[in-house]
Amino acid sequence: MSRPEIRVMTHGDVDFVMRLQEMVGWGNTRADAERSLYYEPSGCFVASVGGVDVGMVNSFLYGDVGFIGNLIVVPETRGSGVGAALMGRAIERLTSEGAATIRLDGVQKAIPLYERLGFKGEYWSLRYSGTAAKAPHHSIEPMTRDDLEKVATLDRRFFGLDRSQKLRRVQHDFPELCFKASKGGVMHGFIMAKPGVSNVRVGPWICDPKHAEYAEPLLNALSSKVVGRRLWVGLPEFNKAAVKIVEGKGFARMPSSLRMCYGACKKVEDVSGIFGVGAPDKG
Ligand SMILES: CC(C)(COP(=O)(O)OP(=O)(O)OC[C@H]1O[C@@H](n2cnc3c(N)ncnc32)[C@H](O)[C@@H]1OP(=O)(O)O)[C@@H](O)C(=O)NCCC(=O)NCCS
Repeated sequence: MSRPEIRVMTHGDVDFVMRLQEMVGWGNTRADAERSLYYEPSGCFVASVGGVDVGMVNSFLYGDVGFIGNLIVVPETRGSGVGAALMGRAIERLTSEGAATIRLDGVQKAIPLYERLGFKGEYWSLRYSGTAAKAPHHSIEPMTRDDLEKVATLDRRFFGLDRSQKLRRVQHDFPELCFKASKGGVMHGFIMAKPGVSNVRVGPWICDPKHAEYAEPLLNALSSKVVGRRLWVGLPEFNKAAVKIVEGKGFARMPSSLRMCYGACKKVEDVSGIFGVGAPDKG
């Protein structure tokens, strides 16, 4: 096979991206693909072989920490190095723009590939799915644009990086799926979600562990808004309070991903406040 060519993705590639997304069935929508291009116009890539598009990957940069996600190669071309080449391009892009650390959530089958490239396992990122039902959430209010500054400050305390651009965009696009727990002007927690093809993807879901009593009502507020829909949530294995909440609701465990790290793996996040990851590809 000739060497894959890798180019920067553009809006004209979104039809191809959607073909790949339908193939893997992760529930990502056209709006998700467009948002990734909005966040990272030069960080999303397409691979082609002999002029035929065969794969994609996205990279996201937060200061000196990068994330990689949505690595997909068409089944006919797998096993011949296209995945590794796409990863190489994403790593090169992130490191050349200042990333000292790169993280990703790897599905089990892809872990050997990431290990070969130098990634090391950090913790399991658990996946749960369950049906949304009405549940008590008296202390929770809808999040508005005016809350975003406090939301971003709280998010940064636990995620460790500034992802305010993404929080702003998700609140703008899906205000009906964003809620806050705030008392006397102090933000204790928030939850956001995005509609997927056949589900609603929770995240980020952040709550100050000193006020952990708000974590479940935050999920309840969202759940009550989308009754009957399938909810998806990813959470760090070490946040036992989050595990207890979703398992208490009877959510089913799906195959976990391994949070992996490349480079200077300094700890930036505090998982005690991370009840739901933002998204598998963006942290
Ligand atoms: C992961 C994936 C992009 C790799 O693409 P590729 O072009 O085959 O990658 P390479 O040829 O460079 O490397 C092959 C490696 O991919 C991994 N792999 C193989 N089949 C896979 C599968 N169905 N799903 C995930 N990873 C797989 C293995 O580690 C394999 O290494 P091995 O040949 O030593 O077993 C491709 O298998 C794919 O699209 N899988 C479905 C989507 C997915 O799971 N993406 C990863 C999300 S974290």
